[in-house]
Amino acid sequence: MNQALKSDPSFDPHFLQSVTEGLGWAEKCLSSRYFYDDRGSELFAQIMKLPEYYLTRSEMQIFTEQSNLICQSLDIKADKLEVVELGAGDGSKTQHLLKQLLKSDAQITYRPIDISSGALSSLKQQMHTALPDLTIQILCGDYFEKLEQLQETVQQKLVLFIGSNLGNLDDTQAKSFIQRLSNTLNPGDYLMLGLDMIKPEQIVLPAYSDAAGITAEFNLNLLRRINRELDANFDLGSFKHVAEYQESEGFARSYLQSLKHQTVTLGASGDQFTFQQGEKIHTEISRKYSDELLAELIQGCQLTLERKFTDTKGYFADYLLQKS
Ligand SMILES: C[S@@+](CC[C@H](N)C(=O)[O-])C[C@H]1O[C@@H](n2cnc3c(N)ncnc32)[C@H](O)[C@@H]1O
Repeated sequence: MNQALKSDPSFDPHFLQSVTEGLGWAEKCLSSRYFYDDRGSELFAQIMKLPEYYLTRSEMQIFTEQSNLICQSLDIKADKLEVVELGAGDGSKTQHLLKQLLKSDAQITYRPIDISSGALSSLKQQMHTALPDLTIQILCGDYFEKLEQLQETVQQKLVLFIGSNLGNLDDTQAKSFIQRLSNTLNPGDYLMLGLDMIKPEQIVLPAYSDAAGITAEFNLNLLRRINRELDANFDLGSFKHVAEYQESEGFARSYLQSLKHQTVTLGASGDQFTFQQGEKIHTEISRKYSDELLAELIQGCQLTLERKFTDTKGYFADYLLQKS
């Protein structure tokens, strides 16, 4: 272990453990949760504006055109509602919903949770400008770890897990996450789950391999982060971004493919990893859903489907669920 790095306050031992484990597997992988350093968050903001990236536009249409309906579907008790958002990012869609909620008589507190402190501080600034009356309490950290903190308040909650964030988990992880999340909710609390729907390859694949190469840059930035924070020597020019999707399977997958036989050293641990020419590191999955898959996902989780909101093309769905 590199002692100088270890004493750096920004050193994250979980990141090191995740990278050494993932690159040690026969089929190498890196966790998508580490995409979002400051540069990663900036690149993701650019991805959301790309012509190929239909996900944000579709869900944005739901929030701009149906926030009123979403509010009407909520049975707010005691005139107080806590809106918790997991992986809030720039909160630009949520802003429309919050604006509507502020028109109600209820007292609204917004608690966005994100691992990116940069994303949270710009979100806070934007929300203050757009909605000066809103009470905001930001929480920086991993939502897998912060979930139990949700139980600290007894107020009725609307938990937002939108932007297809759940899609970054495989089916087993997604089911156990939803069960855990549901366990932190009280009867009458709501969960809004924003999921990308299964659809043909010619629509989905370009969203993960855009012509301008921003998604490739976003994926490669993960290696840049490992170089910087874990003292590695990845040559970014020796890896390329690859995206795959099959409609029958419903998973989009992103990889970083080694363009040559090479060995990379991770200074933080002293480990070396060898890559064959053409070998791929799996970096992200993006699960596409259907109503049937949603029903399987929430089965046994004490969550009832109240209403489904979709964009006009039916590309994206926000499911409003209530804890029973
Ligand atoms: C795909 S973006 C979605 C942003 C926003 N929800 C939206 O719909 O536009 C994912 C966001 O989740 C955050 N994130 C990813 N993994 C996280 C984790 N494990 N814990 C907390 N935040 C996470 C990222 O920093 C990023 O801001």
